[in-house]
Amino acid sequence: MQSNFREGAFHAREGGPRQVTQSMPLLPASPANIARAAERLRAGEVVAFPTETVYGLGADATNGEAVAKIFAAKTRPKINPLITHVPDAGTAHRHAIFSPVAEKLAAAFWPGPLTLVLPRKAESPVADLVTAGLETIALRVPRHPVAQALLRACNVPLAAPSANRSGEPSPTDAAHVAESLGDEIMVLDGGAAIMGLESTIIGFDGSTPVLLRLGAIARQEIEAITGPLADAELDPARPRAPGRMFRHYAPKKPVALNITAPLKTDAFLSFGPAPSGAHIVLPLSAAGRLEEAASNLFRLLRLADKSDAARIAVAPIPSHGLGEAINDRLRRAANVT
Ligand code: TXA
Ligand code: MG
Repeated sequence: MQSNFREGAFHAREGGPRQVTQSMPLLPASPANIARAAERLRAGEVVAFPTETVYGLGADATNGEAVAKIFAAKTRPKINPLITHVPDAGTAHRHAIFSPVAEKLAAAFWPGPLTLVLPRKAESPVADLVTAGLETIALRVPRHPVAQALLRACNVPLAAPSANRSGEPSPTDAAHVAESLGDEIMVLDGGAAIMGLESTIIGFDGSTPVLLRLGAIARQEIEAITGPLADAELDPARPRAPGRMFRHYAPKKPVALNITAPLKTDAFLSFGPAPSGAHIVLPLSAAGRLEEAASNLFRLLRLADKSDAARIAVAPIPSHGLGEAINDRLRRAANVT
């Protein structure tokens, strides 16, 4: 069996001719395949690609019809805007107005897992569907070499949400994309995502920076530059990321948090030494390291969901540093607010 190719998908239609849907390979992210992916993107198709946070489902952000294909593939509500990915801060400045604090954040964290929500420039060619008609635009400069090479090869900004069906955990591996979205989508395979949590999103209320989504950069790292951040989740008067309203990161099985004594029917996500008694133990980090737990979180939630356990139980995770974002995703996975 060829490891990188999946079997073609055949759909028989009653009474009609046999329909054959071309299945897409997971393409190793070689220079030739990056060029092929860039060509598809320029032609208005969607392509999934790795970033250092999670896999994204990309389309030419200046092409409304191409962007519509992202919403269709994900079954994503159209009122939920997308992040626009660009290769460098210089390019980002064509699309948005940067305040002095925004400049400082961009200088400190780009390229990297930071998304800035900024006032959109009138001359930005990004399609209105990307920003859901808002006056702001979410911009990110990813660090992953494949994302960088792809952005430079296609020479258009790429709108890209996480490459999962709306509501599911984000994909941290090329295979998760096909699992979630089907095998008709081209996926550039760049191996496992290094960080495993989505980018941290910062917006602004006037000149006050607001934390819109916890993510791969810990709050404290951002606050070292901005001072204390206002918190959109805690203050309903603050601007929000529309996507935070929706159910997200949720496995199909029930999820229980802060479990120290797992049941014998549990798939147990451990942190540090694992207690005995669970049906299956899936270590987030045996050494109790938050970065490692973050990079394993979505993969292990998917694995636990596919197991024959009755429930997914998760050990207590400390809430400092990246633990704050991990606990945010876990509460959403468990549907606790
Ligand atoms: O790490 C990441 O950020 C990944 C990779 C692929 O870049 N992308 C990602 O995208 O997580 P997505 O679509 O799953 O989440 C983007 C979030 C949503 O909650 C959306 O509502 C918010 O960003 N957002 C986008 N544009 C916005 C805007 N103009 N104002 C407020 N929130 C915005
Ligand atoms: Mg998402």
